[in-house]
Amino acid sequence: MVSLANSEEQKVFERVFSQIPRLIKDQCNGYDELYGYKLNPDDEDATALAFYKKDIAEALIFKLCKAYKFQHEEIVSNFVKIMKWRSEFNPLSAAFLESHNKELQEVGILASYPGGEPNNRVVTWNLYGHLVKKKHLFKDSEKFVRYRIGLMERGLRLLDFLDDENNYMTQVHDYKGVSMLRMDSDIKKCTKQIIAIFQQNYPELLFAKYFVNVPTLLQWFYDIVKAFVDKETMKKFVVLNDGSRLGNYLHHCPKIPYGGLDVKNTLHEENVHEVRPTEYALYLLEKQNNEDID
Ligand code: HEM
Repeated sequence: MVSLANSEEQKVFERVFSQIPRLIKDQCNGYDELYGYKLNPDDEDATALAFYKKDIAEALIFKLCKAYKFQHEEIVSNFVKIMKWRSEFNPLSAAFLESHNKELQEVGILASYPGGEPNNRVVTWNLYGHLVKKKHLFKDSEKFVRYRIGLMERGLRLLDFLDDENNYMTQVHDYKGVSMLRMDSDIKKCTKQIIAIFQQNYPELLFAKYFVNVPTLLQWFYDIVKAFVDKETMKKFVVLNDGSRLGNYLHHCPKIPYGGLDVKNTLHEENVHEVRPTEYALYLLEKQNNEDID
């Protein structure tokens, strides 16, 4: 829901919102999609226009305004960058069309806790500790990045951009099993790349990020990675040596091994497998598919 603190913010929001059709046409090569939703109400294509939902478009643009502190130029330039990145990377394809390495899929889990505290209801789990002996997966960083962005986009589908209490996500990195003192350079490269993509292209979506089972001996790695992360994002990070304390923060997670309230399901049982693209994303993916065949 769009709730503006003052009339200055209101003005900036309205100005940006009214510029969207032109920006898309003139500066984004006509690319008109953000997180599966259509933003341009002035589309000449009537079929595509049927997917436009003003309230969602407003909520997404409002998020960008908030991310860039209602600074008009910042909002516009970042909007253009995000749309260009989406048109090149095709995150919808990474999420809903491409198949990813099975070993990677096993470490990414999407959980939904409808009864959880506001904005702690959609959680992306990354069991990266499981990958410590699978360094080959980091060799082809593009494949890893496409997998990770696919997971991110599927996670976004569990959010509701019209709900103030469910339009941010939480992420957990479980590093159980990680013990080496030197970090592999392929891991570092991949990590750096993903952090940069998240920062640039998914602003104002992260509520909190927990790093659990981080051995005290590896805290230094945190200091290295921190250098790539902006200050606002850093404030959302919590590092826990003992993974069973996670339940103190993320109350609805599995009791074993994370100390949460869910005594019935393991984390893998919580995994939400059925995540469907929005109707508009489906339309775009089908259109791309038909163009590829032509
Ligand atoms: C981010 C993997 C060890 C802290 C990331 C990312 C990956 C990754 C792929 C990109 C962001 C994402 O996927 O959400 C790994 C692997 C590790 C490892 C495979 C060892 C086998 C560690 C350790 C720490 C750490 C020991 C210490 C706390 C971080 C931090 C980020 C990060 C702070 C930035 C998160 C963000 O900006 O959202 N890691 N990591 N990592 N990792 Fe690790």
